[in-house]
Amino acid sequence: MPSSTILVLETNQAAIAAVEGPLTGMGYQVAVTADPDDAVRRAADFALVILDVGLGPRTGVDICREIRGTAALSAIPVLCVSQSTDVEERVRYLEAGADDVVVKPFDPRELEARVEALLVRFQRSRDLAPLVHADGEGPARRSIIACFSPKGGVGTTMIAVSVATSLAAQAPGRVLLVDFDLQFGQVATHLNLKPQLTVADLARDDQSLREPDLLRTYTIKHDSGLEVLAAPGTPESGRAITPEHVNLSLSTARTTYGTVVIDAGSELDERSLAVLERAEAVLVPIVPEIGALKALHSLLEYLTEVGSAAAAATFVLNHLFAREMLSMKQIEAAIGTKIEAEIPYDPGLYLKAINEGIPIVRSAPTSPPARALARLAAIAIGRPDEGATSRDEHRGRLGAFRRRG
Ligand SMILES: Nc1ncnc2c1ncn2[C@@H]1O[C@H](COP(=O)(O)OP(=O)(O)O)[C@@H](O)[C@H]1O
Ligand SMILES: [Mg+2]
Repeated sequence: MPSSTILVLETNQAAIAAVEGPLTGMGYQVAVTADPDDAVRRAADFALVILDVGLGPRTGVDICREIRGTAALSAIPVLCVSQSTDVEERVRYLEAGADDVVVKPFDPRELEARVEALLVRFQRSRDLAPLVHADGEGPARRSIIACFSPKGGVGTTMIAVSVATSLAAQAPGRVLLVDFDLQFGQVATHLNLKPQLTVADLARDDQSLREPDLLRTYTIKHDSGLEVLAAPGTPESGRAITPEHVNLSLSTARTTYGTVVIDAGSELDERSLAVLERAEAVLVPIVPEIGALKALHSLLEYLTEVGSAAAAATFVLNHLFAREMLSMKQIEAAIGTKIEAEIPYDPGLYLKAINEGIPIVRSAPTSPPARALARLAAIAIGRPDEGATSRDEHRGRLGAFRRRG
């Protein structure tokens, strides 16, 4: 969305370039002010407001709260710059209604990724408001979608398989699911497929890594219309796969499939980092359990530290447990970011799906888990309004205002 205009409240003259530079470099129009009152007054005219407020009579948190307390500004996303790595400051910003927080010092790519994600997210909620007609062009459809979690057993594979199957139902033969869980990939099991060839075989075939039609010969077709590039049969055979193989295969796949979904597993190494860097959307399942939240927190800090562009993640709260003790608010505070999607608990459906090798979106398409997963698929590609199922009551009304592809 290069034509979007961004307002930056910058109280520290010396820091202007760090914020303004990367954004103008990306083609955004940026206005900078040092006066909090001026920022609040003019905010309504911009697509996004960034608050970078150092020491002064009014804190950034105060100003953020003021903007969020102004009804006319409710549709304007606010990105706050935290002056320290202190998690308390980040939480205060989120509690004051910040839509996202970036921590100083930040890599320009992280700022860009967060700005872009916020603009897409808010554009999306504007699209969904039934009485607002869309004009101008929409956010780009996202084609490379990765699922990754810093902890196993949280539904990463289930989500990757469900999202891919759901997308393939709308575009048979146009969706590829790659199992880059190079140690113990289970995508084939979830789909009851017995692949002859795997991504490890592909990695040994340089020509097929580069030529779309040859690459396709390494995939196996599922009867949903989904094509699958399976994980190596053993952890040993997966070891030879390099980040270059990952990059090449994704580039080539991208030219011949409309959407590439990746199960990136839960091992952080240079191959999964390559996947996260390449992905246009990263779905991160999290479960309401303190160990998982701590792992996620470390992951986010690590990604920030290495300056990864993988910051544009969608956090998916997967209700893995029958009984839960943590509230949404506690979870968001623990990870310092918002959760955009939820997948409900079910005592039997998920287990049955894996045991039978039939994803829930196919075996029980009208169940709450299937509907949440279909909605997630639409969010992942950046078209949340297309996730409504025929059972959604507002389908007709929203449909009338739907943006054409
Ligand atoms: N919302 C849920 N409710 C109940 N069980 C779930 C839910 N999500 C996933 N599961 C179960 O959790 C287990 C792990 O799922 P899987 O997708 O293999 O996780 P991962 O890939 O993260 O290791 C599976 O047995 C699945 O049936
Ligand atoms: Mg898995």
